[in-house]
Amino acid sequence: MLIKYLNKKIIRLRNSSKILKLLYYYHYLFCDKKLGNVGFDFTSKKSRLEVVQSIIEKKNFKKYLEIGCFDDELFNFVKCDKKVGIDPVSGGTVRATSDQFFAKNDEKFDCVFIDGLHEYHQVKKDIFNSLQSLNDGGIILLHDCLPNNYYEQATPRCQWIWNGDVWKAIVECRNLKDIDVYTCYADFGIGVIFKRPNKNLLDFFHKDYSKLKFEDYFHNNKKLMNIIEYEDLMKII
Ligand SMILES: C[S@@+](CC[C@H](N)C(=O)[O-])C[C@H]1O[C@@H](n2cnc3c(N)ncnc32)[C@H](O)[C@@H]1O
Repeated sequence: MLIKYLNKKIIRLRNSSKILKLLYYYHYLFCDKKLGNVGFDFTSKKSRLEVVQSIIEKKNFKKYLEIGCFDDELFNFVKCDKKVGIDPVSGGTVRATSDQFFAKNDEKFDCVFIDGLHEYHQVKKDIFNSLQSLNDGGIILLHDCLPNNYYEQATPRCQWIWNGDVWKAIVECRNLKDIDVYTCYADFGIGVIFKRPNKNLLDFFHKDYSKLKFEDYFHNNKKLMNIIEYEDLMKII
């Protein structure tokens, strides 16, 4: 009870405007100011609501898990026989962090949408825990995989619009033989992980993927992230 209360307080404090401003100046000192924007434009692309629901319908999925629900915008929209939503602060059906949930969970799901704490180490844990809880033929989706500039991906978080460094976890997964990983060009980038042999293995080994540089992503995002348009993704699902 006390741990859940403290978790809630810490998450709220980390996202307060004064703390974000301080962290923005900290990042400003160290970032490479020449790089600017990657140039992604999601305005005419599908929303995460459309992407998630169309995948559930096409695959006839029955069990949906969402990690990080906030105000339930997506969670309420999704139509699926069984839905479980995890969030330590608001929304969903289980008041817990993803780690607390997975420590006790023995259920399997067809589709998991990972959208909790957008930091590399947590996202990586969420991916591997989700793979353990995924039915054969299931799909993992991850929000916020395509940041447009340094600040949108800087950790610790320093502004309201924030994708975090989810992209680093995707790059790491792209090097694994047993999962097939894409990033759909929609709604700030939706990572897609299939539990099947990798069809486009990335040859980009790194000892510690948390240390990847924004510059690597800025110049090589198409290849590193295996970016795919929504229409092409639906053809390979
Ligand atoms: C971007 S919002 C989710 C938005 C929602 N998925 C949607 O599409 O409408 C991120 C949420 O993740 C939650 N969160 C933060 N850390 C978490 C953790 N460790 N486990 C699960 N959820 C977490 C936050 O409380 C917040 O509500």
